[in-house]
Amino acid sequence: MASGADGRKYRSGTLAPGGVSAAAFSGTRSGPGLAPAFPGGMQMPEESLTITDNRTNITYTVPLHHGTVRAMDLRKIKTGPDDFGLMSYDPAFMNTASCQSAITFIDGDKGILRYRGYPIEVLAERCTFLEVAYLILFGELPTEPELKEWTDKITHHTMIHENTKEFMRGFHHDAHPMGMFISTIAALSTFYPDARNIQSRQVRNHQILRLIGKVPTIAAYAYRHSLGLPYVYPDNDLTYTENFLNMLWKMTELKYEPNPVLARAAEVLFILHADHEQNCSANTMRCVGSSHADPYVSVAAAAAALSGPLHGGANEEVLKMLDEIGSVDRVPEYVEKVKAGHLKLMGFGHRVYKNYDPRARIIKRTAEAVFEVTGRNPKLDIALELEGIALQDEYFVKRKLYPNVDFYSGIIYQALGFSPDMFTVLFAIPRTVGWLAQWQELLEDAEQKIARPRQDFIGHDVREFVALEDRVTKVAPVSD
Ligand code: CMC
Repeated sequence: MASGADGRKYRSGTLAPGGVSAAAFSGTRSGPGLAPAFPGGMQMPEESLTITDNRTNITYTVPLHHGTVRAMDLRKIKTGPDDFGLMSYDPAFMNTASCQSAITFIDGDKGILRYRGYPIEVLAERCTFLEVAYLILFGELPTEPELKEWTDKITHHTMIHENTKEFMRGFHHDAHPMGMFISTIAALSTFYPDARNIQSRQVRNHQILRLIGKVPTIAAYAYRHSLGLPYVYPDNDLTYTENFLNMLWKMTELKYEPNPVLARAAEVLFILHADHEQNCSANTMRCVGSSHADPYVSVAAAAAALSGPLHGGANEEVLKMLDEIGSVDRVPEYVEKVKAGHLKLMGFGHRVYKNYDPRARIIKRTAEAVFEVTGRNPKLDIALELEGIALQDEYFVKRKLYPNVDFYSGIIYQALGFSPDMFTVLFAIPRTVGWLAQWQELLEDAEQKIARPRQDFIGHDVREFVALEDRVTKVAPVSD
């Protein structure tokens, strides 16, 4: 075992945090008094890193590509033939690219978000959600006939099997809608066994149509279930978001008339949430998909990852937090608690954005349009005060903590009449598109294999077995 920069013990051959991460292509015995790394005739790669292994005094040249080194190249750095070779150690993937992707680009320092090269601001202003979905999935904005055909196909997949309805009816009246959503998506796997043929692009595309068509229906049924209202069948005359509002809010009227401002707000919110590169749920989709599981169970797994309060579940937590604060004058006191480390400011901070989340800016503007129809949500004043204080305060400035997408979305959702437990379901509908695009990309990437990280084993070496009668208590009792 070797000691890392953090004082922990590391298995020989594992890079300790703070260590150099690199790969060995050409090994040359070098070091004080020895030959240089690139003796005459040897070509230095155009972009490369030079690493000296101080254990062996061997110097390696490591090629770089797009600012990355290949972790598998590290294995070539060995102390001898029996050595496993170096690994990189990166809990929570803080600095590891797990794939090459052409879908979504984020520059977290500049606050830039683009889908397939198009800035999010333009897409949110000029497109419909299904147009953006097509772009994300197929790489190009659709032509008019392509969009018509795509919309038509999705629209004809919005119905769910009557047995799925029955299945959903079985949930307790106060079941969390996200739990209902996740389980029902997984249950679709039992209705479409053909989906297991994930090798066929045609079969995959069919499931993509089904999933994008059905997620609003399942989400709306989960919502109606929590209110004890009968489920509403999809209306194919309406747009994707209008139909969603129809399935949520239609009562006894013969034909539901969606409010155009609210339908457009839903469209914008869906566009903003459609994809966000390798976040926790996208990574889950890729991880589960890499075992060649079918897309229904893979999307269910991704949705489960989304439900956590550090990810998509944060929008629900923001509302709870604003409720807890209660009034504008109590904001400074709350901020002090956050700074003291007692609480997190939900809807603030991001692994990638170290600047204002561009989605939060658009949502803030969308909120104003929604409030013209619904009336102003008084929570907005608390949120604005919270943002104002946080953006000035050294604690948040130093850590580059800015509002993220979840900070203002919940305030809109609440103004629309949703209870907080529905918020993450509203996030999951559009994100299904992103998950499916990541899944397609994974399955078409010849370099990808089943996701299977390594570990740095820190447990016991082999131990002598102790017979039951000779054992002494070493573990604290398990409380129930
Ligand atoms: N409130 C207070 N302090 C925070 C917050 C916050 N919301 N977020 C991060 N910090 C502090 C953190 O305590 C740490 O401080 P120190 O250096 O003194 O230990 C520092 O900032 C760095 O934070 P981190 O936890 O190392 O950052 P991370 O990249 O691991 O976590 C995050 C990112 C989004 C999980 C985190 O910022 C967080 O928990 N935010 C609140 C939950 C939230 O809003 N999540 C939604 C994310 S965006 C949408 C989505 O993913 O679905």
